[in-house]
Amino acid sequence: MDSKISRRELLTKTSVVGAGLALGSLSTASAIASDSEGRNTIGASIRRADFKKEKHVPVIELPSRIVAGQPFDLTVSVGKDIPHPNTTEHFINWICVYFKAAGESRVTELAKFEFTAHGESPMGTNKGPAHSDPHVSARMRLKKSGTLIAVSYCNIHGLWESAVTVTTV
Ligand SMILES: [Fe+2]
Repeated sequence: MDSKISRRELLTKTSVVGAGLALGSLSTASAIASDSEGRNTIGASIRRADFKKEKHVPVIELPSRIVAGQPFDLTVSVGKDIPHPNTTEHFINWICVYFKAAGESRVTELAKFEFTAHGESPMGTNKGPAHSDPHVSARMRLKKSGTLIAVSYCNIHGLWESAVTVTTV
């Protein structure tokens, strides 16, 4: 992939969600890209892609019908079609889910999930008894339609996002 094309796509597709990110992980983010005004922003460093071709993209799964104000279960995962390694050296550190209500500029953080076991062991890397894979569910209630946004962080490959439109009935 041409890095200039990729960067241009990044700038045009990530400007909306930059403000609401998990700032606590900023210090571990790798390359910081610039936005269209030349500023180094976290939003400009988040990549999007087709999850069927790129293993880092978080996949949001929802019920087909969401009733305003009623609970539903959201599932989000990384590696749905192409598994991510999830080893001691290379793992998904966290996923955050945000909601941007229709007609509002503010983003609400809905949930954050941290994955903390990657096969670590005193006997060596990947010899530990447990791995926490990045596949989680949480119960939500939305009072109105909008956009759900998931952002994931890989310790090697940085920040990735996806978004789905939610229409409540
Ligand atoms: Fe990765």
